[in-house]
Amino acid sequence: MTGGVRGTFEGSLAKWGFRVQVVVIGAGYLGTTHAACMAQIGHSVLGIDISEEKVAKLQSGEVPFFEPGLEALLREHVASGRLRFSTSFEEAAAFGDVHFLAVGTPQSTRGRAGDVSCVNAAIDSLSPHLARPTVIAGKSTVPVGTARRLAERVQAAAPAREAVEVAWNPEFLREGFAVEGTLRPDRIVVGAGDRPEGRAIELLREVYSLILAEGVPFLVTDLETAELVKVAANAFLATKVGFINAIAELCEAAGADVAMLADAIGRDERIGRQYLNAGLGFGGGCLPKDIRALVARAEELGVGDAFAFLREVDNGNMRQRSRVVDISREICGSLIGTNVAILGAAFKPDTDDVRDSPALSVAGQLQLQGANVSIYDPKAMDNARKTMPTLDYAVTSLDACRGADIVLVLTEWKEFQNIQPGDLGAVTQTKNIVDARNCLDSRQWRAAGWTYRGLGRS
Ligand code: UDX
Repeated sequence: MTGGVRGTFEGSLAKWGFRVQVVVIGAGYLGTTHAACMAQIGHSVLGIDISEEKVAKLQSGEVPFFEPGLEALLREHVASGRLRFSTSFEEAAAFGDVHFLAVGTPQSTRGRAGDVSCVNAAIDSLSPHLARPTVIAGKSTVPVGTARRLAERVQAAAPAREAVEVAWNPEFLREGFAVEGTLRPDRIVVGAGDRPEGRAIELLREVYSLILAEGVPFLVTDLETAELVKVAANAFLATKVGFINAIAELCEAAGADVAMLADAIGRDERIGRQYLNAGLGFGGGCLPKDIRALVARAEELGVGDAFAFLREVDNGNMRQRSRVVDISREICGSLIGTNVAILGAAFKPDTDDVRDSPALSVAGQLQLQGANVSIYDPKAMDNARKTMPTLDYAVTSLDACRGADIVLVLTEWKEFQNIQPGDLGAVTQTKNIVDARNCLDSRQWRAAGWTYRGLGRS
């Protein structure tokens, strides 16, 4: 997959042989992927993070989280010298032709708004050292209006003053596909201020030229539009999931099948099949906090009423988690003292990320209601254990299911889809399974004597 993309780039690189000095501030899922991919398309890259520990790990070629294909890319470019990491903002300012801002903007601890304190801190650490013309390109998801405010902040503090430009270049990275998505995106969006002499657009075109040469559209907007593109895209995706989950409830009540329905409506190009998988709903470090931040910002700007539907999407999504708890209680009669096996802790497959994980939320609710919960995930065990230390962590999926009264599949890892009903039935107490991601073959499980429940499936 990535190999094909890499092959193409190497060819063009040899032909064009240019190099921009790129700084990426923030070495989380987004920043580390962006830094490695910038090196992959030929640039000299300096990754910056305030954590000495993280920087040391990355510098030794180790990615502190799981993302397919990323560690190999990181190692290759750390070894080649094209990519290095540091904690020094002074070094960053001296090095960077462009500074990508990729720090986290989590949900505020007091309310629903996006917390931009890390963005402000990064700008405040960098600005006093910026003595030469440069571009700061924000990638973090921020409340609309942040970029313009940051431009004033940086220009007031930087020795280079107006020669520091702020642009916004939102990231649409999907965990599990981060490398591929960064090297072969659907589009590149760049928002820039209104200075006619500005060279942010030109420089970013240069930075992305190898990717653009593959035919990827480059969309130029103003700063505010670029900021909103990201949250609007995420709000739309969340709404799509919310919609299909509402239809799933209707399907269940009416004896219809939501998966077949999604296949049928998805054939309409205006609708599309992607993001119509009904189930436990969305979680992760982006969708939930982004829709809340959008609503909060809309309220601040006096247009909150237009987003009543998005609040309902959020509520409906949370209801999916309670529904799975209710279904489990319904099947078992009571949750008190019931042995529940949970397969999946990550918020989706192919990641070890458990931020706002629907699976962990269900696990916690079941435990609080008196169930004995044993859980297994192929990659997210360490992160899950840190978040919810009181659950019982098993070493394999079969181990988690030993003696279980009910098995819940909460993340659709391939490994779980490959489990044979007979093998699982040999270790559980009772053959009850809730397929909260609709990822199993219901006929196969029922034929093997299991009580099977999907979401929205007859
Ligand atoms: C998302 C966006 O896809 C990405 O463009 C943006 O930059 C960040 O947020 P990510 O959080 O990595 O990316 O995950 P994604 O694959 O979009 O899934 C989000 C959640 O929605 C997961 O919990 C997933 O299980 C759920 N989902 C997705 C569904 O429940 N049904 C679907 O059909 C699709």
